[in-house]
Amino acid sequence: MSGAESTESNLQENRRFAPPAEFAAQAHIGSIEEYEKLHSRSIAEPEAFWAEVAEQLHWFKPWDKVLEWEAPDAKWFVGATTNLCYNCIDRQVEAGLGDQVAIVWEAEPYADGQPQVVNLTYNDLLREVSKFANVLKSKGVQKGDVVTIYMGMVPELAIAMLACARIGAVHSIIFGGFSASAIRDRVEDGKSKLLITCDGSWRRAKNVPLKANVDEALEMTDLIENVIVYQRTECEVHMTVGRDHWWHDLMDGISDDCPAEEMDAEDLLFILYTSGSTGKPKGIMHTTGGYMVHTYMTSKLTFDLKPDDPDELYWCTADIGWITGHSYIIYGLLPNRVRTLMYEGAPNEPGPDRFWDMVERHKVTKFYTAPTAIRAFMKWGDEHVEKHDLSSLKVLGTVGEPINPEAWVWYHEKIGGERCPIVDTWWQTETGGHMLTPLPGATTTTPGSCCRPMLGIDAAVVNSDGEEVPNNSGGILVIRKPWPSMLRGIYGDRQRFVQTYWEKVPGMYCPADGARVDPDGNFWITGRIDDVIVVAGHNLGTMEIESALVSHPDVAEAAVVGFPHDVKGTGISAFVITKGAVPAPGSDAAEAMKKSMSAHVAKELGPISKPDQIRLTEALPKTRSGKIMRRLLRDIAAGNEIKQDTTTLEDRGIVEKLQASG
Ligand code: WTA
Repeated sequence: MSGAESTESNLQENRRFAPPAEFAAQAHIGSIEEYEKLHSRSIAEPEAFWAEVAEQLHWFKPWDKVLEWEAPDAKWFVGATTNLCYNCIDRQVEAGLGDQVAIVWEAEPYADGQPQVVNLTYNDLLREVSKFANVLKSKGVQKGDVVTIYMGMVPELAIAMLACARIGAVHSIIFGGFSASAIRDRVEDGKSKLLITCDGSWRRAKNVPLKANVDEALEMTDLIENVIVYQRTECEVHMTVGRDHWWHDLMDGISDDCPAEEMDAEDLLFILYTSGSTGKPKGIMHTTGGYMVHTYMTSKLTFDLKPDDPDELYWCTADIGWITGHSYIIYGLLPNRVRTLMYEGAPNEPGPDRFWDMVERHKVTKFYTAPTAIRAFMKWGDEHVEKHDLSSLKVLGTVGEPINPEAWVWYHEKIGGERCPIVDTWWQTETGGHMLTPLPGATTTTPGSCCRPMLGIDAAVVNSDGEEVPNNSGGILVIRKPWPSMLRGIYGDRQRFVQTYWEKVPGMYCPADGARVDPDGNFWITGRIDDVIVVAGHNLGTMEIESALVSHPDVAEAAVVGFPHDVKGTGISAFVITKGAVPAPGSDAAEAMKKSMSAHVAKELGPISKPDQIRLTEALPKTRSGKIMRRLLRDIAAGNEIKQDTTTLEDRGIVEKLQASG
């Protein structure tokens, strides 16, 4: 994509939301001038800047050098030793705060009509994590070994990951919604010998058979020697003698003394798999020191965390199986000494107000969720929100995909009571932590923009030669300087690491997102650059068309892909979830609705962006992590036979329905 050809966004978003003065007055960073001063300095003197952040954490041995950099290889805090689990737990206990609550956990099912809540203090965590670390050791796990974790959102998942970090084992967490083949692939790629799971997990009042999935996976690979099973749902499971062990049996009577291992700053902390644009998932590698420093600082600044405020309660609704859960439920939060809420289940169990009921009961102060969830809440109806008192909320966050302005404004008004700053955080599994985001006390936000680079982040929008493009011209988002939590590689695939991230724009990290910068210096993500479509010689951001569609009154959600078109080269195909019932395919009502949507897009973005095809539907093919499977949509739009694997789809029947609706 070159700057000259790129799309000028026609989305006229002029609304501006300044941080409330009262909020700014108490914030860590309370004005845009202060942010700009700190940001300039962090870019001019990155080593001094990051050293100052790192000094706020515990190190067994200080670094000889902050950074060693030869693109694409970074070493941060060279020569230093630390332990992330120690920084999450022991440090608080040693400061005399052992009785303070670290994790608040809520189960999905109610017991006798009452919510079931468990509070884990730092003392509790120290004891349980140390015991489980000893369990791992007793099963032969050593520093550097890869431990696979496939569990539901139970406290034991946090305990398992922290126990790995404590002894220097590398965890590879697999989201509990994945299937047996995904487990097999990851176990084999990581050459893992031990797996931790649950009998089952609760999701919308149904038992998800985790152990049965593991059994199926382990029929396809014989690498795993030990399986540890935490009993959660008490569903029936098969235990293979000699291989499978109950968590409670192994924990029974084991010592709770297990000092944290001194880890080199560059020792591998975890691998987390993320899907690439093609082929098998990539095992993204994160190391100890840099990841710790970056997630600590970004948690504190993005959410304006207040460790000394006993009312501070932060809730990120992600699953720990994703990077958001790794960084912003556990690793960034616990070193900040802020209570972090973990919820086991679905947002609409038992009713569509479960989240708001929880916010009210727990008095959540900082709330972090995904635009997809926000759009679902909008669809379910405001009445489920309005019956709850959400006045404890102070900061709202979003992550994972661009948020369309309509959803942003709804979030601001209905959830935030027009009082809470919204932080739209752009980052990736690969970046480890936040890269572009407003700071709640400093940034004047604008709906749909993730605003400014985080301190220490040198982001720019460039053409393929690495030259910055003018304001408002689309281009490629790049990060020009190394940052502490950057990925250190793809596990076992050096070449893919170099090719995927470092060759598109030589010498710079390329996340494969398109972006533009507006005249105020705010960044707008325009879509994956692999999702940019060239229509009649014009580059169009599919996400911008989606955003335009979603601002039509009948549209709940939209996905746009390109398909081969006789005249234009590429045509635009839109898959639209309607707000109300889907009119019968081919009916007058359906045709009128499509026409009105097309006209709306033409009005918002210009006639060039008008969809050539619209399919009205009640659902879209999504992976269990909620990402739309665009490749599948492209095949449907093109009328191709579906050859790809659809086993990770939430609802497999949806593909036939969409094919029939064309
Ligand atoms: C997209 C999730 C727009 C983007 C933390 C990125 C976003 C990919 C945003 C990474 C945002 C994430 N605005 N797009 N605020 N946040 N993305 O690895 O395309 O699951 O490259 O990490 O999600 O997804 P991942």
